[in-house]
Formats: sequence, structure tokens, C-alpha cells
Amino acid sequence: MDIKAVSAQIDADIQGLNSPEALEQFRLKYLGRKGLLAELTSTIPGLPKEERAGFGQGVNTLKNKLLNLIEEKQKIFSGSCAGAAQATCDIGMPGMAQELGHLHPITRITDEICAIFSRMGFSIVEGPEIESEYNNFTGLNIPLEHPSREAFDTFYLKDYPKLLLRSHTSPVQVRQMQEQKPPLAIVVPGRVYRPDAVDASHSFMFHQVEGFMVDREIKFSDLKGILEMFAKAVFGSEIKMRFRPHFFPFTEPSAEVDISCIICKGKGCSVCGRKGWLEILGSGMIHPNVFKQLGIDAKKYTGFAFGMGIERIAMLKYGINDIRLFFENDLRFLRQF
Ligand code: DAH
Repeated sequence: MDIKAVSAQIDADIQGLNSPEALEQFRLKYLGRKGLLAELTSTIPGLPKEERAGFGQGVNTLKNKLLNLIEEKQKIFSGSCAGAAQATCDIGMPGMAQELGHLHPITRITDEICAIFSRMGFSIVEGPEIESEYNNFTGLNIPLEHPSREAFDTFYLKDYPKLLLRSHTSPVQVRQMQEQKPPLAIVVPGRVYRPDAVDASHSFMFHQVEGFMVDREIKFSDLKGILEMFAKAVFGSEIKMRFRPHFFPFTEPSAEVDISCIICKGKGCSVCGRKGWLEILGSGMIHPNVFKQLGIDAKKYTGFAFGMGIERIAMLKYGINDIRLFFENDLRFLRQF
């Protein structure tokens, strides 16, 4: 047996060595009392005198090589793979990545809208999705013959007392004015329902944010200022805003609010229908009839109100052309936000 042959055997043995037990076997095979190195050493006295020192050195080098190899292996076994699974642990295997979820785009934009109004002093309040006919219509000065009361425009749940799925978030105005005295500054995010056929711009369920402020001497100019702050915070400070006269039963005067088209900057394109403007919400000064029904003195108090569709704001802001994308839960869409 010579030193070279033992050295080659060491190299071969260390290759597949993957457990502390196997390492101990390996150690005993070479360094044990009856191991191969002891055997080599025992041949020294029989060697010619001039070869003995060189042979002894060779055995020593082998011994150091073995000690180093054993130490290295021990480090690996005791490091990342302590415990019973050592034999099967592959420390080179990639770890398991945790997939992080995130908020739905509608939740994000709702939070963003509420945060903007909250910074301007508005409280955030919610209301129930099942409403009385009174809160959804009558309390808001919507007359009995108004088309929005028809069954094809509202989901009715029960005939008496009439319950329905709210068709807008405005009934929370009625609830809050019954509960609290002015001054009031409130925004109301929430789901609303309408029996519309589903297409790229309609859904039977969508989200709105209602807002209103009631106090002495609230003026139309307050409404304008608040909404301009809002529009600029969401769409950027270069956006222009305009009020277009409109009709809502619960406000007088009423206006729809447009922003300059965020795609063409007002020049006219396919998104804004060549108008240069995009409608974003309805608004107005709260009708005195609403105050009267709720026992608020319309001579003392005035107020403004507005309501917007959250999907519409999100579609404009993110350039989304189909409302159905929000509700299909397609991860290819949702992961973009
Ligand atoms: N409730 C209206 C709708 O769903 C939106 C709206 C318009 C709300 C004008 C308001 C308002 O408070 O003043 O179409």
C-alpha cells in the first residue's frame, strides 16, 4: 500500500459523503487506531533508512488533508442542517418564496379618495346596503313618480315595509342628518346596486363615494374649492375642472363636474368623445326640502353634496376600458396594481 493510492481513495470516499454517520465511518477508516494511516505508519520501520523520513512526511500530509476535509464536512452538517433531516437536506435548494398579496384597485382608490377628504376635515362614515325606500328616495326629495324608483332601476327586496338594495350612497345623507346636528362634513364610501345589463361600462353592483357638508353659510364656492382640491389630488395639478348645470332632485342648484381629458389634455380624443372633458361626478347645494324633512332649519343652514362612481374614477386614472375587469378576479389584471 502506498501513499498515492490512499490519497486517491480519500478523494473518492469524500465525494458522496452526506451524513455525520458516514463522516465518522470515514474518519475511523483512515484515522482510527487500526485505520489506513496507522497501517501506513507501521510500515516505516521496514523501509530502507533513506526513505523513512520522506514517507513519514507523506503520511503527515495525508493526515492534515484528512483533518481539513473532516472539519469542512462537520461545518456543513452542523450549520444549516442541524437535526434529524440532515441526511436528506439539500442546502443548495432554493427557498420557498412567499407570495405577497395586495389591495384590490377599487379598495386602493377608495382609500385614496377618503384620505384626500379626510385631510380636508371630512369624517368617513358607512351605511347599510339594504335600505328603506324612504332613505333611498323620499328623504332625498325624489318624487314618487321619478323613473329611478321603477323596479327596472332599483332592486326591491320586500313590498312592505319597502326594502331595497340602495341604488346610490346618498341615503347616508338622510341617516346622518337624522342622527347628528350640523356642522357636518362627511364622506361615505360603499357598494350600490342597479339592475343594469352588464357591459363594458355597466355593472349591477359598483361603488360610490358620497360627500356632504352642512353648516351656516356653506356656499357653492366652497363646493367648487373642495372638489377642485380633490380632482387635482387624484388626477394631477394640471387638470382643469368645470361645472355643468344639471338636475338632481336632492340638490338645487345642481351640477355635473367634468375634468379636462387626461388623455388628450382637452384637445379632444376618442376617450372623451372629442369633447375634451370627462364627467367625474354629480353635485349641488342640498335642496331645502331635504333639510325640511329632516327637521334642519333651511334658513339657518346650507350645505353641498356630491356623489361619484369609484370605478369610473379608477378607470380614468388607470386607463381601464372595461368595468368587468374589476370583478372577474383575473390575476393578470389585478397584479398590475
Ligand atoms: N346620487 C347620485 C347618483 O347616484 C349622485 C349624486 C349627485 C350625489 C349629486 C350627490 C349629488 O350628493 O349632489 O347618481
